[in-house]
Amino acid sequence: MGKDFAAMECSNRSGNATLAAVSDPARRIWLQGGLGVATAALLAPLAGCALPAAGNARIGFTGVPASTADRVTVPPGYEAHVLARWGEPVGLAGAMPAFRDDLSNTAEEQAQQLGMHHDGMAYFALDGQRGLLVINHEYTDEGMLHTGGMAPWTLEKVRKSQAAHGLSVVEVAFDGRQWQLVRPSPFARRITARTPCRLAGPAAGHRLLRTAADPEGRTVLGTLNNCAGSATPWGTYLAGEENFNFYFAGGPRRDADQLRWGMTDEAWFRWNEHDARFDARQHPNEFHRFGWIVEVDPMDPTAAPVKRTALGRGVHEGAWVAATRAGRAVLYSGEDARFEYLYKFVSAGRIAPASPGRTAAQANRTLLDHGTLYVARFDADGTGRWLPLVHGEGPLTAMTGFADQGEVLVKTRQASDLLGATRMDRPEWMAIDAARATVYCTLTNNTARGQAGQPGVDAANPRANNVMGQVIRWTEDGDLDATRFRWDHLLLAGDPANARPEARGNIRGDLFACPDGLMLDARGLLWIQTDASASALNQGELQRLGNNQMLACDPATGEVRRFLTGPVHCEISGATMAPDGRTLFVNIQHPGEPASDRSAPHEVMKYSTWPDGGRPRSATLAIRRIDGGPVGT
Ligand code: FEO
Ligand code: CA
Ligand code: CA
Repeated sequence: MGKDFAAMECSNRSGNATLAAVSDPARRIWLQGGLGVATAALLAPLAGCALPAAGNARIGFTGVPASTADRVTVPPGYEAHVLARWGEPVGLAGAMPAFRDDLSNTAEEQAQQLGMHHDGMAYFALDGQRGLLVINHEYTDEGMLHTGGMAPWTLEKVRKSQAAHGLSVVEVAFDGRQWQLVRPSPFARRITARTPCRLAGPAAGHRLLRTAADPEGRTVLGTLNNCAGSATPWGTYLAGEENFNFYFAGGPRRDADQLRWGMTDEAWFRWNEHDARFDARQHPNEFHRFGWIVEVDPMDPTAAPVKRTALGRGVHEGAWVAATRAGRAVLYSGEDARFEYLYKFVSAGRIAPASPGRTAAQANRTLLDHGTLYVARFDADGTGRWLPLVHGEGPLTAMTGFADQGEVLVKTRQASDLLGATRMDRPEWMAIDAARATVYCTLTNNTARGQAGQPGVDAANPRANNVMGQVIRWTEDGDLDATRFRWDHLLLAGDPANARPEARGNIRGDLFACPDGLMLDARGLLWIQTDASASALNQGELQRLGNNQMLACDPATGEVRRFLTGPVHCEISGATMAPDGRTLFVNIQHPGEPASDRSAPHEVMKYSTWPDGGRPRSATLAIRRIDGGPVGT
């Protein structure tokens, strides 16, 4: 997300242990010896990371230099085609309004066009070179969305903002030369912040989810701040609801739970001024109906999106699923906020196959409604534990404020505080290597770490004022559903030229900061996308790192090579491969975003005119080798 929402929230006041309290004595000694000692130890090569002197059999492209230019660069021999821009019609039959460059498209038209600020994405094959792209639209920059920006702020603008949120489903096809949108398409769909979504799982119908408009507590209007996305083994799509807390106005007298969730007095998005359900003083339970993982069946445009409460509530970046050898679904998720947690869910049932007349998506309609949710604790000896978030176990009882499992799930953060989970440096995306029972996770940064009154470093989050971020990985003890694991850092991001030891990192290869998007491809290359905020790019400790970018890392060697650089003030977020590995779809989010004033439309073209030389627009790229060969080789 471009606006540094995580920097606006820092609500974990739990007393959860930092390193000094949980480490084994040997590790504690070197970390207490001071940051210099700690950093030196962390910069030592990781086990199993003997990097060949030159070259790498799996990374086959020529790396590109860091760039501050207002364009997309890809390696020699590659081309990047702009496929799907914010404001293009998604392809609903009979409703294909063209994008108006003066921003005069109405809310109704926006609900028929691709939303703003593309983020997570996944490709679902139809046949041959034809498929569906499901694309998240994370948030809106009102200054870029409306004629006149936020002045005046009207109901019509709130409705347009809501219509620019959510997800798009578009049909795409390769014509032998290039990918194109297929319009109209029977699969084309927009899901917005007003689309009816079903609540399912243990908290569905819970008293905390009932509102005046929905006394049953089972139907929510809309999904929002959809950040990361992923495909499930049964053919559905999962989207996180990330910074939902910034949509609700709590007023000056917020209660302890609202404060723990980072609810603010005024709402950043100001929808509440024209849509009372976002005023938490009037409708306090509406707040509980966001922050879930949402499951969408892309093949059925009539199926309501489902908010899966068994997976817990949080500022969810996204969720990623793989199958155990016994066929259970194991889902990992995290909260991208400073000092928040990492989660895992193990389904009670097994993944069911498709059968005649029933798709796999239909066969697994309740799979994610039953199972066990855990939160992670990373210990300093390189091991870790998954702690069950189960009502009646340990401290999670009525005595501590949890009446039932539904309440544990609505207040997942508060329950995790009581279990002593590890407070992380903003968990973003994950990638699962199921064959090795290994998971990678980006921890994008945490500049509050070690600041006065804030938690200090721990083994998993080892740098104070962590501007750069790191990629952590863990391998489960046995299969993915194990409750213990071993962990290390794949890398600490940074630039060795920096004076401050904590900002140097240990990258072997091309340098970057603020890892965010992740994708593990079929050959085992780990693709890393970055999101340094517009206000931090190309200055200070990020001076030499250029615009946000995408890199390939070979986890076996640790080598990192830069594949793509984005235009000015964008982030790179969202990646998915066509099944033949010959097209990589990548999202460019918020090119040209103003660093500060979100309501100043005159600023909008000051920084970027990507992709068309005019108004900056988030867009999906289709990236191919000119010779048609596999991407990355
Ligand atoms: Fe939406 Fe954490 O990035
Ligand atoms: Ca981010
Ligand atoms: Ca992100």
